[in-house]
Formats: sequence, structure tokens, C-alpha cells
Amino acid sequence: MPNIPSGARGAVITGWGSALGENTVTNEDLARVLDTSNEWIIERTGILERHVGGSTASLSIESGRKALQMAGVDPTEIDALVLATTTPDRSVPATSATVQNALGLKCGAFDVNAACSGFVYAMINAHGLIAMGARKVLVIGTDTLARITDWTDRNTAVLFADGSGAVVLEASDTGSQLLGWDIDADGSAEKYLYAELGGNIKMEGKEVFRRAVRIMVDSAQKSLAAAGITAEQLTLVVPHQANIRIIQAACERLGVPMDKAALVLQHVGNTSSASIPLALVDSLDRGRVKQGDYLLLVGFGAGMTAASAVLQWGGSAS
Ligand code: ACO
Repeated sequence: MPNIPSGARGAVITGWGSALGENTVTNEDLARVLDTSNEWIIERTGILERHVGGSTASLSIESGRKALQMAGVDPTEIDALVLATTTPDRSVPATSATVQNALGLKCGAFDVNAACSGFVYAMINAHGLIAMGARKVLVIGTDTLARITDWTDRNTAVLFADGSGAVVLEASDTGSQLLGWDIDADGSAEKYLYAELGGNIKMEGKEVFRRAVRIMVDSAQKSLAAAGITAEQLTLVVPHQANIRIIQAACERLGVPMDKAALVLQHVGNTSSASIPLALVDSLDRGRVKQGDYLLLVGFGAGMTAASAVLQWGGSAS
């Protein structure tokens, strides 16, 4: 991936918010209707419960509104909305158009579909818009996977859920937050994870698992190299929340201890495009991130896509 040109205008995150489906579904709830158990789900995935409900637009509006309020930004000041989702409410128009109207934004809006890598793709796009002159961009990652999950298929039903996370990115003339980035895709692997239009998610779990670890680590190493920092310098890794064992394996290969990983998987399951922003927002709300800290966002998903970004919180002075 190309390096960020020196002199390109950077951006910093100034507000954030999240939203979850209104209904909580526990492993015990699933074990009552599927041939599975609480113990199996916890041991093989790390998930205890997940949230289901709402539409992609309604969850995006909720998280987006919180992010705008926290940033103290009037909706009319936003120059662009980038909504990462793999479950739009309709084929046409883009769900971002519905969200743009509901939030009172007066700007361009578009969806990005890169599955579970979507939020990182969207963040990188937003930084590009800011480098080209935009001053304030709202970035949202939302998915309502429950609507495309076959609730009689234990291979997928124990994993997927609904949620949304949002950030406001504002141009910074004093330092850039994004130090390095990488996006990747391998369309030849789409057969391992897909949903036909109007259909449910089909997945070869073992193959996805195997590839996920490899492509997350590969993407993360490219972003770290572009940023010019080492894995040891990271304060926080915000990985896609798909399976605790994938996160453990990727962290181990990167040489990052698990206590540096942001984890919300236990309580939210796999929310695809919402997964990384939900974990990021949780860490920010808990005060885990301080000025100057190095963060790695890294995801993988259907496509098969991978994306990563190294951020320095508050922006780098150099
Ligand atoms: N409950 C109980 N038993 C189960 C369940 C279940 N829910 N699912 C599978 N099993 C059984 C299998 O039938 C198998 O039984 P067998 O040994 O008698 O044949 C056994 O458990 C082991 O099955 P595996 O498939 O080997 O289980 P594994 O440890 O690989 O875990 C899982 C399966 C959780 C799906 C894992 O492979 C995984 O997480 N894969 C990656 C999924 C992922 O990250 N997807 C990303 C999608 S993101 C996007 O873009 C939407």
C-alpha cells in the first residue's frame, strides 16, 4: 500500500457513539432451539450473548447522533457520511441516504461494503476525503446480520448479531492521527463466505478461520511498517470481533499480549462492520486510550477482505 504523502492534511476522532439491537439473545436461548450448548459456544467462540433488532438505518442514526453530540458538531457542518455496511436496508437507495436525512446532514453520503473490514475501509476513505478538503466526516459501521442469518443453522446462528458504531473525524492542521493503512481483498475466496441476494450467510467456518488469522496478521504488519512503528509500541489492538480464538492466534503471531486487545465479543457477538467501532468505542469509554497512544485497527471479512490502520491518538506532531 502507498505511504501517506507528507503534507497531506490529517484528521482526528473527536466524537464517538454506539448502538445495539434491543433484544439480548443468550447462548442458553440458542441452546433451547438448536443442537448446541452454552459451553460449546463459549469454548469455541468466546461469545456469551448477542443483541438482535433494529434496522441498519435505525442503529446508524442512534450511533451517529451520539457521535455528533459528543463532538459538539452541528449536523449541517458534516461534509460527508461514509456508512460501512454489508446489510443495507434496501438495494436502492444506499442506507446512508436514509441516515443522512434522518440526522439532518447536508452532504454527500455513500455506503461501503467490505464486510467485516468495512469500518476500517470507511475510515481510510474518510481520511482521503479530508486530505482532499473535507473538514468533518461522519463514519459509521453498522450491520444487522440477524436478518441474513439462518437461525436453524448452528454453524452460523451462534455467531452473528446486530450493532453500530460511529466516529466523527475532523481535519487537523496540527497533526495526523492515521500513520499507516492497508486494504486488501481476495475475490477468489468468496466461496467460503457469502450470502446471495435475499439469502442467508453460508460459511465454511474452518477455512475462514484459517485464512482470517493469516490475512489479519499480514495486513497489520503492512500498516505497522507504513507507520514506522513496531508491534511492541502498540497500546491497543482493536481487532474484528469474530472469534476469541482468531484474536488470540493473530495477537500471538503479531507478538502483542492479549491484555492489549479490545474485546466486546463476549457481549455483542460478530456484528461485522460494527464490530471494530463497537470495540473502539468501548475502549474509549473505559479510558483505555491516552494522548499519544498507538492503536491498531484490524479486520477481515467476506470478500475475503482485510484492512488495517495504525492511529496515534490525538494526532502525531510530525
Ligand atoms: N454447537 C455445537 N457443536 C457444533 C456447533 C455448534 N454451534 N457448530 C459446529 N459444531 C460441531 C461440528 O459439527 C463438529 O462436530 P464433529 O467433530 O462431530 O464433526 C465440531 O463441533 C467441531 O466443528 P468445527 O467446525 O471444527 O468447529 P470450530 O472449532 O472450527 O468452530 C466456528 C466453528 C466457530 C465457526 C469457527 O470455525 C470460526 O469461528 N470460524 C470463523 C468464522 C468467522 O470468523 N466468520 C467471519 C464472518 S464475518 C463476515 O464477513 C460476515
